[in-house]
Amino acid sequence: MARLVVHGGNPLHGSLEANGAKNAALPIMAACLLAKGKVSLRRVPNISDVWTLTGILKAMGCKVEYDGNSLMEIDSSTLTTTKAPDHLVRKMNASFDIMGPLLAAYGEGEVSLPGGCNLGARPVDMHIAGFRKLGAEVVSKSGFVQAKATKLKGARILFPKVSVGATKNCLMAATVADGETILENCAREPEIVDLANFLIAMGAKIEGVGRQKMTITGVPQLHPVDYNVVADRIEVGTYLIAGAITEGDVTITGCVPEHVTSLLDLMREMNQEITVGEDFIRVQGRRPITPIAVSTEPYPGFPTDLQPQLVALATLGTGTTTVTENIFNGRFMYAMELVRLGGDVRVSHRDVVIRGVKQLEGAPVDAPDIRAGGALVCAALAANGESTISGVNFIDRGYQEIEKRLSQLGGKISRTDFED
Ligand code: UD1
Repeated sequence: MARLVVHGGNPLHGSLEANGAKNAALPIMAACLLAKGKVSLRRVPNISDVWTLTGILKAMGCKVEYDGNSLMEIDSSTLTTTKAPDHLVRKMNASFDIMGPLLAAYGEGEVSLPGGCNLGARPVDMHIAGFRKLGAEVVSKSGFVQAKATKLKGARILFPKVSVGATKNCLMAATVADGETILENCAREPEIVDLANFLIAMGAKIEGVGRQKMTITGVPQLHPVDYNVVADRIEVGTYLIAGAITEGDVTITGCVPEHVTSLLDLMREMNQEITVGEDFIRVQGRRPITPIAVSTEPYPGFPTDLQPQLVALATLGTGTTTVTENIFNGRFMYAMELVRLGGDVRVSHRDVVIRGVKQLEGAPVDAPDIRAGGALVCAALAANGESTISGVNFIDRGYQEIEKRLSQLGGKISRTDFED
């Protein structure tokens, strides 16, 4: 079992180039099923969720080649089955992204109910309701979802709640449906916009990209393209917080600062020095870290995926910070781990109350999910002495070579194999 070993107390300095976004690359890989030809994707992050989806696509007969750094080529014209392999689908929630493209391009799909991080319930009822509106027959039983449609037909779909997953799946399905589809109360995350831009590059007709209402006019077929995935705003945010919590000076290049506006506003409110250019962000960590009150919201609100990392920063603040988690009900499993590091962090239902302490102390901790892992790494980098972080398999799902990236900034962090 791998663990990260961190010797904290060392300010991070330097610059890093942002990687491509996990949450854009995964649905874009799934959307390649709509092209039935060889698509080239660039800036695909080398993370284990990408390997998992690669495994799913290959098991279904697609040809997938990846240079392990950026370029991935996916040819779905060789697809042999519309049934996704259960053991791989269970590994991550995003695997359900393949259902919309399968249904739209092949008229059927069978995907088991998705797994993923332990953040609380991850229902797919709104995805299924959307597919049914588009004319599909959908059966969900024994942990599997089977969907069929001779030809999807455009429809009006009003999502009762903002959902990134349901918006992605219905958007992809509607691109080759007959006639016009209107999606209302859509998620507007930059990764949805990137997916929509990718679909448009492949020939889809979509209006209202990035707005709550999108109108899709179905086209008979999408064509292969060469596409560059957007920068990962969550990775960017995590490394900015690592810079701030260590009182360092860190610049992230090749990113879209507008995508992290909510985080930058909060970090400024927490007395951190932030400089923004067209495609870079610099943070200069300062003390005191002043307290704030914040809630997670769908984009452009403060993202649930940066909530644990911001809580880590607040542990070294002055006064009391409160954070309310509105997206997932199980997203505070890391709080006890921050307590092990000396943080004063208390959870009550959807709220977490953080009373700032002067210093964190190194300890053995366990990452319960991807972003919690990011938060524990940030806290360990600021803590006195040595921390070991297990649950690295979660961290590897969303952060490419985290120890190498942070070492480039002067962080004392390495990966070691331990016998358990
Ligand atoms: C969510 C986040 C996304 C983040 C990802 C991984 C939001 C709006 N979405 O996306 O930014 O990157 O987690 O951490 O912040 N829901 C239903 N029925 C459904 C689908 C969803 O009730 O069919 C509920 C979920 O339980 C959740 C909310 O809607 O409370 C938002 O879910 P959704 O956006 O779909 O989740 P993800 O796509 O995983």
